[in-house]
Order: sequence, then structure tokens, then C-alpha cells
Amino acid sequence: MKKVTLGVSGSIAAYRAADIASGLTKLGLDVQVAMTREATKFIAPLTFHDLTHHPVATDMFVPVQGLGADHISLARGADVILISPCTANLIAKLACGICDDIVSATVLATMAPVILAPAMNTVMYENVITQENLTQLRKRGFTIVEPDYAALPCGEVGRGHIADTERILGAVRMILGRGGELQGRHIVVTAGGTQEPIDAVRHIGNRSSGRMGYALTEALRDRGARVMLIAGPTTLLTPFGVEKIEVREALEMRDRVLEEIPSARAIVMTAAVVDFRPESPSSRKVKRGDFPSTISLVPNPDILNEIKGDVIKVGFAAESEDVVQNAAKKLAWKELDLIVANDISRPDSGFGSDTNQVTLIHKGGKIEKLPLLSKWEVAVEITDRIVELFKERLSL
Ligand code: C5P
Repeated sequence: MKKVTLGVSGSIAAYRAADIASGLTKLGLDVQVAMTREATKFIAPLTFHDLTHHPVATDMFVPVQGLGADHISLARGADVILISPCTANLIAKLACGICDDIVSATVLATMAPVILAPAMNTVMYENVITQENLTQLRKRGFTIVEPDYAALPCGEVGRGHIADTERILGAVRMILGRGGELQGRHIVVTAGGTQEPIDAVRHIGNRSSGRMGYALTEALRDRGARVMLIAGPTTLLTPFGVEKIEVREALEMRDRVLEEIPSARAIVMTAAVVDFRPESPSSRKVKRGDFPSTISLVPNPDILNEIKGDVIKVGFAAESEDVVQNAAKKLAWKELDLIVANDISRPDSGFGSDTNQVTLIHKGGKIEKLPLLSKWEVAVEITDRIVELFKERLSL
């Protein structure tokens, strides 16, 4: 079981650390919490004790039962250290090597990677001193989960609001995934649906939520891959450590994919690309009375089919009948290594649902019907198959 030391410092965002501790344990990690004295004024150590089932370290000079020698054990025992929230004061101390509390002493004493999730008033965050300290820490290999631009508890609106919990957990997952089987592999993932303009405000689209593709980017990142996400419009948060290019139309997605492919070793096209587009979209909003009764359409290029060369190609097939046969035809025509077929006529599968029942069809003819799984579990299964494909394709 991998070990995380969660350091909590004295910001109002300390209350969010309970959610983070809980999220870390749900990821199957062994979590040991250390708090600065000021953090204990915002949230009780007992909260973390109950969430992590470990005593909480709050004082360098008071040995913690079962932990041995305080900050040194906290530092040595960790696979990763996460400080969340991390105050301007703690950032300054870490940048200078000051170690006068259990959290800063643990960081100074560790060889483990350190992640900081800053949270503070905007002026404090934007202060050149804080920014220079963060630059120093980044140069020394610290990972910073940038705070969000939002309304802050102090009444100001600006940057300084602690990042979303999922992004902070994503940073931990990414760091723990370094050295995984996909380390150093550059993988392109497309996600979401495209929108083909009819006029300045209307489009032809589909119901793709993007969730399957986003889950895949995380699963691949967690195994060490460098992931480039090329996504159609969605409301989903970009996972931590994943680079994203936003696109709207199929032609734009094609251009971005073809630009990325030369440096990529694999492409996973989960995107629901609209197969046709209006031939002559209007650049202005067409008035109701002027709207034509028919719109002429032209086919969009098939992106996967255009990708040639030594790259692993994984496609998706959303089908409502003869699922396996139709998907197998696409696998052959698009020259794929693997196609993930799902029956979108099932209410628990496909667009918008949290679950997916998929069948994996391999290039060699092997067919695997997976049970009904969450999209996250499906993403992990597909990632396992991609790891296998890399083992078979030694040239990549
Ligand atoms: O032929 P169909 O659209 O059903 O194929 C689905 C697979 O092909 C998906 O992986 C999808 O992302 C990809 N696709 C594509 N270019 C298109 C349409 C679909 O690459 N124009």
C-alpha cells in the first residue's frame, strides 16, 4: 500500500483537507496527517484521525504513538507528500528551508516528491514574494496545484481559492504513477462530441458527455503516460497533468490530431465525431423565417482512418444493433489495434450514463465481453490492454 503524508496548514481551506484525506483513503492509499499548530484552530486533528485511522502529528517534540520519531518517520515513510492547503507562510518557509513546525520539518527531511496546493487571499498569492517562492519551489521539483480564480472567504474575488479536490487528488495520482508501464509514452486521447455549425448559434451535435474519454486520460496518466487530450465542448474539469486542446468542429479535431500524431505512440479516439457537416454554414444568425427547409450536408473525414504509420490505434464504436459485427467491420476498415464497442440502446450504457457495458475486439480476432462497469473501471481495463499492446509492439 502506497503511503501519503498529508500536511495541513492554517488556512480556512483546511476544512477541505478532510475531503482530501477521505479521497486519498478511497484511492487505497495509507494516509498519515501532519498539521501545523494554526491548522488545528480551523479543524480538529480528531477529524483526520477518524478518516485515516492513524494518530495525527501536530508537534515535532511530541512523539506520535505508532509513528516513532515524528517528522523523520513522516518524511521517510512517504511515497509522496501533499500539503493541502498550503499557506503563503508555509510556502515561504519551504522556499527558505525553515523547519520550525512538523509540516515544514517533514518536507525538509524528505526525499519523496512534494505537491503543494496553495490557498490564500489573492493579494497574498499574487504578491511577488509568494510568486518568487513558488518559482523557486517549482525549479526544485515541487509540483504546484494552482489555486482557482473564485470568490474568496475574505470577500475578494481573484486567484487564491484552493483547487478543486479532484485536481489535487489527480496530482497525487499522477506523481504516484510516475515510473508506471506507460512512462514516457505520449498518448493522444480525443473526447466529447463535435459541433458542426449551421449558423452563428446553431449546430449539429450529439449527446456525448466526454466522460469516457476524460476517465481514460486519467487512467493513462496514472500509469505514467504523457497525455494530450483533444476535446470537443464539455463542462468536465481538465484532469491534473493532462494537456488539453479544445476544439469544436470535426475538421478542427482532425487538424489537431494530425499535428500531434507524429510525436505520439498511441491514439485513443473516444470522441463522437459528427459524420457530416452543413455544406455552407452561415456566419450570422439566420432568422426563423429565413431558415431553409433543408440543409445540405457533406461528409466529414474519418480521422482514425487518416492516421497511418507506427502508432497504436484504439477506436470506439457506439452501436445500436449488431454491435460486435459492426464494430469488427470498423476495426478492419480503420486498421485499428483495438475497438471498444458499446450498445447504446441499453439504458445503462453509452452517452451520458455513468456506466458502460463494452465488448473489446482485438485486431487478431479476440473478443472480450466485459461486464457492466463504471466508466472509470472501463478506462482501467482499456489502459491494461494498451499496456499489453505496447509490450507486443516493441518498435514503439
Ligand atoms: O464509423 P464510426 O463513426 O462509428 O467510428 C467510430 C470511431 O471512429 C470512434 O473511435 C471515433 O472517434 C472515430 N471517428 C473518426 N472520425 C470520424 C468519425 C469517427 O475518427 N469522422
